[in-house]
Amino acid sequence: MDSSTQSESPEEEVRSFFDSAPHLKNSDLITQRLKDFVDKNSHASENGKPRRIVCVTSGGTTVPLEQRCVRYIDNFSSGHRGAASTEYFVRAGYAVIFLYRRGSCQPYCTYLPEDSFLDFFELSEDSTIQVRQSHSAVVKKSIRDYHAAVDHGFLLELPFTTIFEYLQILQMVATSISHFGSHGMFYLAAAVSDFYVPWNDMAEHKIQSASGPLDMRLTQVPKMLSVLRKEWAPSAFCVSFKLETDPDILLKKADAALNKYQMHVVVANLLATYKQEVVAVTKSQRTTIRKHSQEAHVEEQIIELLVEKHADYLEQP
Ligand code: PMT
Repeated sequence: MDSSTQSESPEEEVRSFFDSAPHLKNSDLITQRLKDFVDKNSHASENGKPRRIVCVTSGGTTVPLEQRCVRYIDNFSSGHRGAASTEYFVRAGYAVIFLYRRGSCQPYCTYLPEDSFLDFFELSEDSTIQVRQSHSAVVKKSIRDYHAAVDHGFLLELPFTTIFEYLQILQMVATSISHFGSHGMFYLAAAVSDFYVPWNDMAEHKIQSASGPLDMRLTQVPKMLSVLRKEWAPSAFCVSFKLETDPDILLKKADAALNKYQMHVVVANLLATYKQEVVAVTKSQRTTIRKHSQEAHVEEQIIELLVEKHADYLEQP
């Protein structure tokens, strides 16, 4: 497979991407859920100040190779970072739109043991189902925190699978929270595909192996960070992530993303150590964040720092 060279302008690339994307099947439902969530939170306040809102993206996008998809290219991400970060944002008083890959890690499940689902339960003598005593405290806490977040209007969960769904929903979210102005934040932890097969160039049916080796041309996915900053939500506070495997280029790439896409913060992480350590890069500072104990989540400290930076941003004239 090879990547295509592009001759279109960035704006044209974005337009062609959306024009050729298959329509979202449930866009009316997503619009309604977003509207209800945004209406509710735009009238809410925390400690006498307007409630802040954040869109957390989480998990990897897929690139289908066939319209009736049997095969696809995937991006590495378990969704743990986005899910854990969502919990800390809610705790800090933010309303969270959690845009997540179907089947990836969910908020309030991050402290649950990685046992199989059925290991959580047992049958009592009269055949009623109960949570095992060993898991009971942690399950109770997860249920309580999850329902509190949803019932009090702090959490809206929107799933995606493909790059087409992800970018269309991201645009809907961005335009619907744009009227929160600088009280809105984007925390873009999802691992987003860089290359895709345009819908109209894609085989309809399963690609047949009898035809020999597969030769396929991939088109570059337009970087939506620029459009997000310039058009969709120009006043929002934007945090993007930079994942690399080579430590020698990580911070250079983070600086480049900061300048090129006018991000407020770029969180730089290496595949080998991303669960233990990240560097939050801004125009004036690089802050290394390391988790302080084996059981802790590094996301707790990341969110603490970002909430501070967002507060500074809100105080700017
Ligand atoms: O989910 P976990 O297993 O816990 O892992 C978390 C993580 C390692 C996936 C996360 O910390 C992380 O680094 N996420 C970003 C990974 C990534 O795709 O990096 P990138 O260099 O390809 O993209 C940089 C930024 O550009 C991202 O914020 C992405 O949202 C954005 N992007 C990427 C491609 C594209 N076409 N448009 C974009 O806007």
